[in-house]
Amino acid sequence: MKVFIGTSSFASFNNEPLRMLEDSGIQYELNPHGKTLTEAQIFKKIEDLDGLVAGLEPLNKKVLGNARKLKVISRVGVGLDTIDLKEAERRKIRVENTPDGPTEAVAELTIGLIIDLLRKISVHDRKVKGGLWVKMPGNLLNKKTVGIIGFGRIGKRLSALLEPFQASVIFYDPYVTEGTGNSIKVELDYLLKSSDVVTLHLPYTEETNGIINNEKLALMKKTAFLINVSRGGLVEEEALYRFLKEGEIAGAAMDTFAQEPYHGDLCKCENVTLTPHVGSFTQESRQQMEIEAVRNLLNYLK
Ligand code: DGY
Repeated sequence: MKVFIGTSSFASFNNEPLRMLEDSGIQYELNPHGKTLTEAQIFKKIEDLDGLVAGLEPLNKKVLGNARKLKVISRVGVGLDTIDLKEAERRKIRVENTPDGPTEAVAELTIGLIIDLLRKISVHDRKVKGGLWVKMPGNLLNKKTVGIIGFGRIGKRLSALLEPFQASVIFYDPYVTEGTGNSIKVELDYLLKSSDVVTLHLPYTEETNGIINNEKLALMKKTAFLINVSRGGLVEEEALYRFLKEGEIAGAAMDTFAQEPYHGDLCKCENVTLTPHVGSFTQESRQQMEIEAVRNLLNYLK
């Protein structure tokens, strides 16, 4: 049995997942590149694997086509958009993920980004470091309307974390019928028109591709902020860049991008906070996700 670990930071914070693999007697190899494998690298690597503990490497039709004996892909994380699920099913490759692990970390990062945008923390930081002592007025989160698009585990947790701020939470999710706490379900366009902060917490699929495009950005208030800590393809980045540049919305925070690492136009915008896809990247969440991913892998390989 041969297993490859795709995530580059695997077991950096805790040895338990490695110990579990060692105890099982399965031969494993850690990612030697220190970053996400490219299509060419994973294409080569996958050929003789029985199991893959997957990060965000592209597991498309071509790559899976080279998997001669792969039995299981066990993702460290919740998103499955990097995997061609139809092809995996056709090839009888089991796909597992860790749906609960990222919830707290992503919800907390979102709170951080909401306050960062409202109080211009990152903007002030860049100015002070650039020698400028300039005070820009911020806004309170208290009594603002936060619009959550996608009301799954993360959206619901975020809604609960917002309660002490006495923010009004509205959400859009065609698959969820009822809100939790004080949250209220609304239609997407209403959410975009009414929210002071719009934040995305939904998976990337054919249906959600470009859900925030030119037309939807035009519905947002000029004073509103957009946050995307889900997946890059949900937001049309060039449209967002134009809206930010022209002051048609107040600002944005992006943790995920259509192409990662990201070097695009948003880097030129003052009113944007950018982070390198670290939504679930806390020591506690990674430990939980890695252990769960190895357990899922071993359950299946055994
Ligand atoms: C997830 O959970 O899918 C995050 O993006 C980390 O991989």
